[in-house]
Amino acid sequence: MRQNIKVHHWYLYVGLIGLAVLLVGLGARVAASQTASCNKLNKLPSYFDKIICQHAISSIDNGRQIFRYDTFGDEAFWGGALGLHETIQGEQFGGIGPGLSPQAALELGLKVDVAALPRPLIKQLRNGQVDLTDPAVTLALLQLDAVVGVTGFFDDNEEDSLDAIGIHCAFCHSTVDDSLLPGIGHRLDGWPNRDLNVGAIIAFAPNLQPLADLLGVDVDTVEQVLLSWGPGKFDAELFLDGKAFRPDGGPAATLIPPAFGLAGVNLHTWTGWGSVTHWNAFVANLEMHGQGTFYDPRLDDAEKFPIAAANNFGHIHSDPDLITSKLADLHLYQLAIPAPKPPAGSFDEEAAARGEVLFTGKANCASCHVPPIFTEPGWNMHTPEEIGIDDFQANRSPDERYRTAPLKGLWAHTQGGFYHDGRFATLQDVINHYNTFFGLGLTQEEINDLVEYLKSL
Ligand code: HEC
Ligand code: HEC
Repeated sequence: MRQNIKVHHWYLYVGLIGLAVLLVGLGARVAASQTASCNKLNKLPSYFDKIICQHAISSIDNGRQIFRYDTFGDEAFWGGALGLHETIQGEQFGGIGPGLSPQAALELGLKVDVAALPRPLIKQLRNGQVDLTDPAVTLALLQLDAVVGVTGFFDDNEEDSLDAIGIHCAFCHSTVDDSLLPGIGHRLDGWPNRDLNVGAIIAFAPNLQPLADLLGVDVDTVEQVLLSWGPGKFDAELFLDGKAFRPDGGPAATLIPPAFGLAGVNLHTWTGWGSVTHWNAFVANLEMHGQGTFYDPRLDDAEKFPIAAANNFGHIHSDPDLITSKLADLHLYQLAIPAPKPPAGSFDEEAAARGEVLFTGKANCASCHVPPIFTEPGWNMHTPEEIGIDDFQANRSPDERYRTAPLKGLWAHTQGGFYHDGRFATLQDVINHYNTFFGLGLTQEEINDLVEYLKSL
């Protein structure tokens, strides 16, 4: 009898110890998986190497979170000033008008993150059992944090009623892989959302008066300008210089560029405004209307930037500052996003190999697009005359030049065309332009080979 009990105890102890080891092991695994690669550095002479590695991992994790979910307090603008949440929720939920159905939201290019959806909902969506014409579904998606780049702030008392709406970097610079349905899938950070009709989304807000006041025009004009942009475009300079249309009458908006493949590139934006982190501070403060600090005295030039100069946009101070403390992690995250590799079979490998020889040889592309970063190491800027195009957009920037666009991952943003305003519909059109302008004497076959090479980057 006694012995039996002892035996039982024995098993109990082993069982408990086993369980404890398992639990500790599980907990440790989560941390270990993050620092596994850092631990390899134990063999290196300096303890500081491991600190650098762990810092990089945690900084990128924070940066991802900021890029995807941080509004920097911009809901005070999109919700508070423009009232965008009112027309999104519609009269039915205490707002204005019919509301925004998921179908209409998807047509505006907004994307849904499948990873944020509960399993039953995924199943219903797959089986076509969700009413995509019902604005209540849009609110449910916002409540799940499933609309890419948008946060809905809900009323504490009335849970299904929106108080405000805010946007994130991911609004323009992420899309999804359409794995569930068109517009619904897994996030692809850094890929420009060329379906997103930013102008139409802003124009959906009930109160455009703050924008009209800033630009010194009436609300109808603001609406007309916003609706001129079309999908995949935004005009980051409009609220600096008030120029809404090009001399040829086309909209002054530019394409949303990729935010991948940027490491090693010196100047950013189509016209080389500054570094990634300069532009992040610029956008978070001046475009998203978050609350932070921004300094750029180049905006005091009243001739070039009359609106920015009059409003002191180069000298922003907000208290509290919800942006500055996030810049480092946000910067590192973007530099960590690689350009995506083209899918197998999406280009002709033999032609691409011939194209590569032309790129660095006869076509002389590599004199500016230096592999493997495909822009110039150093001051990567060119006058409009040097690339044979007009100076309109260049003149809207401090250096009055165009930045040599890094070319990796071109295949992932063919929609909307190429060059800052999408003036060239296809890669073939781009090369035709260079062929004529530089007098390269490329044959049609050589042009085709170059196109295949560009598709392979
Ligand atoms: C409303 C759409 C929109 C939002 C929101 C937005 N961007 Fe952009 N972003 C653009 C456009 C358009 C440009 C090109 C501007 C230009 O060249 O004048 C750009 C340019 C950039 C670039 C330069 C890329 C290159 O080609 O080198 C980076 C980096 C970037 N954005 C990061 C961010 C980050 C980080 C955030 C959030 C803080 C953000 N953007 C928010 C539309 C947006
Ligand atoms: C003198 C420097 C220079 C040379 C030479 C040059 N490029 Fe460019 N390239 C640029 C600049 C600057 C831009 C950005 C233009 C803009 O944004 O409007 C650009 C843009 C592009 C784009 C569009 C990228 C995008 O994201 O829209 C492609 C594609 C391209 N170049 C390919 C080539 C090829 C192929 C060659 C050789 C036939 C070539 N380039 C030669 C400077 C150059």
